Amino acid sequence: MIYTVSQIQKIHNQLNVPGDKSVSHRALMLSSIALGPSHICNLSFGKDVLSTIKCLKSLGIDISYPKNCSNTLTNCVEIVGKGLTGLSRSAKPLNAGNSGTTLRLLSGILSGQNFSSIIFGDKSLNNRPMKRIIDPLTLMGAKISGRDNNQFAPLEIEGTSLNPPDTMELKVASAQVKSSIILASLISQKKTIIIDPFTTRNHTELMLKYMGVDISQNNSRITIIPSQPKPNNIIVPGDISSATYWIIAACCHPNATIKINNVGINPTRSAILDILKSMGANINISNIKNISGETIADISANSSNLKAIQINHQIIPNIIDELPILCLAACFAKGTTEITGAEELRVKESDRIKSTISGLKQLGVQNIEERPDGMLIHGKTTLKGGFCRSYNDHRIAMTMAIGGILAKGTTTISGGDIASVSYPEFWNQIKSLKK
Ligand code: S3P
Repeated sequence: MIYTVSQIQKIHNQLNVPGDKSVSHRALMLSSIALGPSHICNLSFGKDVLSTIKCLKSLGIDISYPKNCSNTLTNCVEIVGKGLTGLSRSAKPLNAGNSGTTLRLLSGILSGQNFSSIIFGDKSLNNRPMKRIIDPLTLMGAKISGRDNNQFAPLEIEGTSLNPPDTMELKVASAQVKSSIILASLISQKKTIIIDPFTTRNHTELMLKYMGVDISQNNSRITIIPSQPKPNNIIVPGDISSATYWIIAACCHPNATIKINNVGINPTRSAILDILKSMGANINISNIKNISGETIADISANSSNLKAIQINHQIIPNIIDELPILCLAACFAKGTTEITGAEELRVKESDRIKSTISGLKQLGVQNIEERPDGMLIHGKTTLKGGFCRSYNDHRIAMTMAIGGILAKGTTTISGGDIASVSYPEFWNQIKSLKK
């Protein structure tokens, strides 16, 4: 579907963003392997999380949508966990859709069940790297194989009793890989130390702790002493990756204030706020509190005079999902922004180095140079607007839409409905900015 956006003269809004996608997947998966009922609220109902729900239902998990939730929150589900090895064989291959988190985390869980599974995704997901989970899971005793010499999904997993080595040193800095390994080690019932090359988002660790499991973290070294997770009520924080679209819209706009309440500011996710602040962004964080083991806050952002920044490999895992929209902010910043060590962007839902540059060029950005592991963006540019493609990637569709409300002319985005992968309300909210 083609979406059209045009320049907005002023932005003075208060918005809510959907529940965090990463936390939503984990809330559902961990509640499924807890023993007994859990109640989850503010869950993301984006397509990726719906893929997780469908897979879990196919694995025998009862998930229902209570009508009269006792609190004022929405998007609530009841889920009855069956214990660490209580899932049952799915009659059909499991379809993870577009969701890497569904496929990679579930593979860790399925490796230690006592039945076989096949899991696959859509065209994009079936072409994303899976050797990064197949290799470490195999080292733990998993019987798992993938298409094209273990490169890609579909994956075949013959559930077995796992026996991980005492220490698992991971090669790729990826929270999906790390979480898959944590879940497999949890099911193995064997104490494991997991070492990540760099610190990545730690939602799995925090939620397991919240469910009573002995798991500790020392920078990028995680120690897990497995036990049966206990069910718990979970409130999912607002998604900081979704909030970043509005934060950057406000910072780049000459007449804007925007406020977003209850956003997750877990330090492994909130580096984008620090980066924007060091670019000169006028951002305020208030009302900090803890819910269900995660930190949340209200964030307000205002028109700012941005300056360029250098971004390197160490921080990349902590801003991986925000990089396309950060590139848009760099177009409005004075000076040259250099992004290096970001080759992971090439294996996301699209090649995000190529798709971001191509979209920004369509919006009228001339001074942008592709590098194998990132890009150089020479600011400041006045965007003209133009015809952009989503590349079937939710983050590219939303980045170009925000570019469109900041650009002078009209912008059209083809395939914009892909935004519903993480943010089904996005297009309605962008429309509501005009009011
Ligand atoms: C995610 C981890 C990141 C991120 C993805 C969600 C997660 O992927 O890009 O959107 O929920 O663990 P990688 O682990 O591949 O970096």
